[in-house]
Amino acid sequence: MKLWGGRFEGSPSEIFERFSGSLAFDRRLIEADIEGTLAWARVLEKAGILTPAERRAAEEALTALRAECTDPAFFAGAADEDVHTLVIRKLGERVPGVAAKIHTGRSRNEQISLDTRLWLRAEIDAARARLVDLAAALLDLARAWPDAIIPGYTHLRRAQAVLWPHYLLAYFEMLARDWERFGQARARTNLLPLGAGALAGSGFPFDREALARELGFDGITRNSMDTAADRDFVLDFLYAAAMTMLHLSRLAEDWILYSSEEFGWLELGDEVTSGSSLMPQKKNPDSLELIRGKCGRVFGCFCSLFTTLKGLPLTYNRDMQEDKPPLFEAADELAGSLEMATAVVRSARLKPERAAAAVEESWVVATDLAESLARTGVPFHRAHELVGKLVLESLKRGRRPADWTPEELAAFAPEFTSELGRLLAPREGMKSRNLPGGTAPEAVRRALEEASARLQTMRAASGKS
Ligand code: ARG
Repeated sequence: MKLWGGRFEGSPSEIFERFSGSLAFDRRLIEADIEGTLAWARVLEKAGILTPAERRAAEEALTALRAECTDPAFFAGAADEDVHTLVIRKLGERVPGVAAKIHTGRSRNEQISLDTRLWLRAEIDAARARLVDLAAALLDLARAWPDAIIPGYTHLRRAQAVLWPHYLLAYFEMLARDWERFGQARARTNLLPLGAGALAGSGFPFDREALARELGFDGITRNSMDTAADRDFVLDFLYAAAMTMLHLSRLAEDWILYSSEEFGWLELGDEVTSGSSLMPQKKNPDSLELIRGKCGRVFGCFCSLFTTLKGLPLTYNRDMQEDKPPLFEAADELAGSLEMATAVVRSARLKPERAAAAVEESWVVATDLAESLARTGVPFHRAHELVGKLVLESLKRGRRPADWTPEELAAFAPEFTSELGRLLAPREGMKSRNLPGGTAPEAVRRALEEASARLQTMRAASGKS
């Protein structure tokens, strides 16, 4: 069946039908399309186009279709151009007279926007719930070793010691921002496009605000031409998804390294790692590598639609149909990656002694020493120089910080006070970083408590922008 044709003498070629049809992917929107059509039947009744009996018949038929459409057999042999055509055809098989009227005052251009918005709104809520689950797993992992110290890196070189929860809270912040970003995408998604018509507004005026409320939208789109042309809300989602994947890829990379023999202070569970078909000793972090790999695909989805929309003349163009494959692909890969990441986090075990050893055999205390000297009045540049010389001397002699006695330090430079001996232990210097956002134990304890409270708020706010 076709929703157009009167103006044509010939029919579309088989190749054009195959090339332009979208049912293969937009069938995923079927429930949204039925929901929108149910609402539209009520609009048409109020406009006097459908009688109350016809509206009831439409409702009955559409409700039955909604129950049937979850069965893949529902689509068997369907050769319709798109999901909208399919729904109208199926409606027509039950109530032909009503199906012939149901498209009054409505365009597929606004319908596809409606369907996508309804589907995406639910998908955003699911993505945010998955983010909350992952964030919860990170906080649990932080609480499992609240006092452990690990090396913090810059340039992938040991830089300063940090608390294990402090490190995990860094990812909590990224996920919290992602959660917010999805909320912003939701706010722009959750507006009713119906009423825009093909581009100029429906010729059958109805109360758009009331329909918006009925369908759970926060409001209505403001301009019919913009509505027909707009896919910003899809891009907002794809950007939020790409950003989340970027964060996951950094966590993946960190943990691939930290769990390697070279770092060796993190252990991933057997349930999220795989062996080698040849090398019996291998325990490979494939789950994390795949998250890192899928990140590239999601970036591609964003880039794909971003490019498709560039330079499109107002308003609707068929190019825009190409928004859905990348949208679905990104949503699926995001969902899978978030679930996988949560499972990896739940499986991970810190090896606190190994992490502490990595801290202690390095010179991560150097900054603490220099800052301590600066506190006693030594100009920082001088302090930096002195400690640098101490490090150089230690490296030459193969000495770790703990190998120096306070007496030896005092002999090394007159500026070195006895206080420095205490700061050779990394946990000591850490205490000085006691300000909001720092890694001092007190600051981290507070940050962890705050994060738990924020997580509760995030959980409770699901389904809101
Ligand atoms: N399938 C189209 C899309 O996904 C919507 C239908 C509008 N088609 C049209 N020829 N105006 O964007």
